[in-house]
Amino acid sequence: MCGIVGYIGDRKAYPILMKGLYRLEYRGYDSAGIALVNDNGNLSVYKAKGKVSALEATVQDKDISGTVGIAHTRWATHGEPNVVNAHPHYSKSRNLALVHNGIIENFKILRSQLEKNDFHCISETDTEVLVQFIEYMQDIHKCSLFKAVQLALKNVTGAYAIAVIDKQNPDQMVVARKGSPLVIGVGKSENGNPEFIVGSDATPIVEFTQEVIYLNDEEIAYLDRSGKIDIITLSNVKQTPQVQQISIDINELEKGGYPHFMLKEIYEQPDAILNCIRGRLDTENKDVFLSGVIDNKNVFKNARRIIICACGTSWHSALIAKYFIEELCKIPVEVEYASEFRYRNPVVFPEDVVIAVSQSGETADTLAAIQLAKSKGAFLYGICNVIGSSIPRATDSGTYLHVGPEIGVASTKAFTGQVITLMMLGLSIAKVKKTITDEKLHFLVGELINIPDKMRWTLEHNKSIPEFAQMFTYARNCIFLGRGYNYPVALEGALKLKEISYIHAEGYPAAEMKHGPIALIDEEMPVFFIAPKHGMYDKVISNIQEIKSRNGRIVSIVTEGDTVVGNISDRIFSIPDTLDCFVPLLSVLPLQLLSYYVACAKGRNVDQPRNLAKSVTVE
Ligand code: AGP
Ligand code: GLU
Repeated sequence: MCGIVGYIGDRKAYPILMKGLYRLEYRGYDSAGIALVNDNGNLSVYKAKGKVSALEATVQDKDISGTVGIAHTRWATHGEPNVVNAHPHYSKSRNLALVHNGIIENFKILRSQLEKNDFHCISETDTEVLVQFIEYMQDIHKCSLFKAVQLALKNVTGAYAIAVIDKQNPDQMVVARKGSPLVIGVGKSENGNPEFIVGSDATPIVEFTQEVIYLNDEEIAYLDRSGKIDIITLSNVKQTPQVQQISIDINELEKGGYPHFMLKEIYEQPDAILNCIRGRLDTENKDVFLSGVIDNKNVFKNARRIIICACGTSWHSALIAKYFIEELCKIPVEVEYASEFRYRNPVVFPEDVVIAVSQSGETADTLAAIQLAKSKGAFLYGICNVIGSSIPRATDSGTYLHVGPEIGVASTKAFTGQVITLMMLGLSIAKVKKTITDEKLHFLVGELINIPDKMRWTLEHNKSIPEFAQMFTYARNCIFLGRGYNYPVALEGALKLKEISYIHAEGYPAAEMKHGPIALIDEEMPVFFIAPKHGMYDKVISNIQEIKSRNGRIVSIVTEGDTVVGNISDRIFSIPDTLDCFVPLLSVLPLQLLSYYVACAKGRNVDQPRNLAKSVTVE
């Protein structure tokens, strides 16, 4: 959701900013813009509705010179996506330009205050008041940009990551954050001169430097062309910049020959899962070692309850974990939508462990949910993919997925990475609580380490999905059904189809059909069953019969070699046999492929579906 890029150094800013915007496209946006202090001292702002490529077309014959600039992809929250509302926004004098990610909640109050002082906004955004307010502060306090940003932000409620440049001071840039992410890359140009590349995440930065500073909430940074960096807090406390190393392989940010990131990420899963379990599952001794649990042994041993907060796909992985952890660790697990949890007054005990599951580590609701849990004294554990993101930095301990960057908006490898990480967590907790025998631990780990190979088999043996998907494009509605461990997979299959093909789909526990949804069944309704030879196999077969006798079209995910379900289904897709609890890691793969190919057949923008954002950094 929204992308910010900034550059200051001795190179031309434009190509670096543009490349950065392309890298950030995956986050989801509806318009784009760029501001540059040109070589002649002008501050130029160019904006376009739609894609970054539209912005590129807009600037064709314009002055794009300059070595300092900021750029933005906007995901509109206040004001429709159009050129006027797109960022960057100018200040009244047009000396300043600003980009923003987040929501300024008190913008109406600030706007009327500004109007009384003859500062008028021309856009409908909440953002524009910020740049006007900063200039207003400069005017009345006769202070530096850095100070003016601090004074302005003291008046702001809401969430922001911002970058500001000033035509009168082209050797500096000021950035700040509260609640929305911002990373500062500290690099050197080809000439050996210092440079800073700012980004909403590290993807626009890693090509230029691996040294980064993660700005914390309520921090404001002054960056100048000589390489000087000063960080102060809103309350004026000077901070020492903490430079950290990141390592992202640049190839992971490219499609690598695949037509879409989503397809690449689906096929990456066997290797991604190997990376996820590396060093955590001992393949020789069939054991598990999760440092986050080992280092906090007593916390987990004495935990009264586990609460998992998440959104979307991450919530589905948490639901699978509930079944697994409760079964194995004999500890109650509650799975909460972070957006609901944060706004009620949940009962949280200091002996609770609250787990945040988030691919991006930036989801605003998930972050707020754990902050609430923290205020009630719970121990916070993060399960995230993006290294250095806000949630891992806000939690007491945690585990990274290590599945590599996920660029496609539809989560695939992060889902399976989350499921397997949560299972390793369950096994580790069972070990410290001694609710598992060594024999059972070895047995479960022994099967878990076979999963990457079984994933590979699944991806190789379902080659008919693209052709099947072609026939499927007529569907307007669709139902996904599963029981036990495969109920969350049904939810996930439905979400995948909805978000990228725009076909309405619902997931239900199969036995719930009779309580209402079965009324929807007719010969036009495709129903997907996840029906492996485990768990409630016979019960699921009865559920299939119920749909069949009402003329529903049945597609089933079955265990390889199963003919019983095959005989009563219109179509089957097979997965290798595994333990009931690990089936989701395989059964989700044909569903991911199916939604991908249906979306392609319908000509959808698979990697950037309409209205969606990869990192939902506003609530
Ligand atoms: C997944 O396909 C979705 N795009 C979405 O539901 C996502 O899982 C959700 O927004 C949570 O994101 P997070 O894991 O980064 O917190
Ligand atoms: N709230 C701002 C707007 O609507 C910023 C949105 C964003 O984060 O992209 O312009």
